[in-house]
Amino acid sequence: TSSRPVALRGRILHCLRDPGDGGDAGALEGFDDGLLLIEHGRVARLGPAAELLPGLPAHIEVHDHRGRLIVPGFVDTHIHFPQIDVIASYGEQLLEWLERYVFPAERRFEDLAHGQAMAPLFLDQLLRNGTTTALALCTVHPQSVDALLAAAQQRGMRLIAGKVLMDRHCPEFLRDDPERAYRESKALIERWHGVDRLAYAITPRFAPTSTEAQLEAAGRLAREHPDVYVQTHVAENRKEVAWVASLFPWARSYLDVYDHYGLLRERAIYAHCVWLDAVDRARLAASGAAAAFCPTSNLFLGSGLYDLAAMDAAGACSSLATDVGAGTSYSMLRTLAEAYKVLQLQGQRLTPARALYLATLAGARALGLAGRVGNFEPGREADAVVLDSAGTALTARRAAVVRDHDVLEEWFALFTLGDDRNVAATYLQGAAAWERGSA
Ligand code: GUN
Ligand code: ZN
Repeated sequence: TSSRPVALRGRILHCLRDPGDGGDAGALEGFDDGLLLIEHGRVARLGPAAELLPGLPAHIEVHDHRGRLIVPGFVDTHIHFPQIDVIASYGEQLLEWLERYVFPAERRFEDLAHGQAMAPLFLDQLLRNGTTTALALCTVHPQSVDALLAAAQQRGMRLIAGKVLMDRHCPEFLRDDPERAYRESKALIERWHGVDRLAYAITPRFAPTSTEAQLEAAGRLAREHPDVYVQTHVAENRKEVAWVASLFPWARSYLDVYDHYGLLRERAIYAHCVWLDAVDRARLAASGAAAAFCPTSNLFLGSGLYDLAAMDAAGACSSLATDVGAGTSYSMLRTLAEAYKVLQLQGQRLTPARALYLATLAGARALGLAGRVGNFEPGREADAVVLDSAGTALTARRAAVVRDHDVLEEWFALFTLGDDRNVAATYLQGAAAWERGSA
């Protein structure tokens, strides 16, 4: 955190609330030539540069991003730290992909030094893409969590992570057991939860890889630590859903398995939610848990299409996630581009305003962090991403055509065409943590 006041100047856009899929114009606030004043790492004021500049202290550092678009740092609500080595692995759907690619890659994190070598690569990918807050799965090894959170702490990132729990239907070398799951998770909660910007997530991989005794242990942890997160997968792939039905014949649905063990609650994030039914969606909404929509992953593994309209109608909270390594990009811009297409295929709409919401404030709300990050209201931690249409020839041309019309047209072109070349800088609590060209 920089304690000195700084100001970011540029075109600024953020969400005050969910714009929905219609025309709630007041949900967004924007300034064509805006100034974001930051003190002690938090937003002090936001407004037109012409109004705020004359009142600034003479010594203040103004970062001039005129010609660029400043939005809140992106929030990725589901990503796998160990899967950097399996991204873009050919040819399989979920269950075969896990066996063939994921489990062997996760084995390497048994070695703390491997995790320590991978953590900077992983966090740099987040920062260079403008992601400032993430909820990440590690591996079954507690040292994979230590490696990741220590590196995130050093960078000042807001990171939530957890050790994977799995004690069946996976290779012997990745197995824990209910007692170890409980004990190791508890020790990690005590070591990391609430330390600086870090937090812990209880992380049963998914119902098929946990025995009922282990799901009970996870539920006990969740009850004993109501402010700790829960993260897992649900209803991603049809074969997986059928498998869960055969493993838990007493359950009404896949989601019901988690509900039975007390894992469906606020601060619980359920990745995918592709094959939920209406009862599940209503139950998810009532529980206060949130869904993570993972479009690049769902398309890459051929899993299915997330029904955002049905989730909205049920009142369920949707957030957006890359799900790397089934997801094919660390970029929340690329992820929004695919989200738009997933919805197009279903006759649904992703307005540019809703897209900004999904990548920022929706994630903050899903994580119970809306008072801290997700927008630029005064008092928020000043995490920001500076987007630059000049980053590629194509986005530059597109911006030249649309930018004078409406900031939302430029933003739409940025996420439809853009990637990390369009991220000029990423700020954590008012300090530049990433600048394009720096690595
Ligand atoms: N379900 C269980 N484990 C995984 C995983 O690692 N990735 C995805 N996409 N789905 C899962
Ligand atoms: Zn996942």
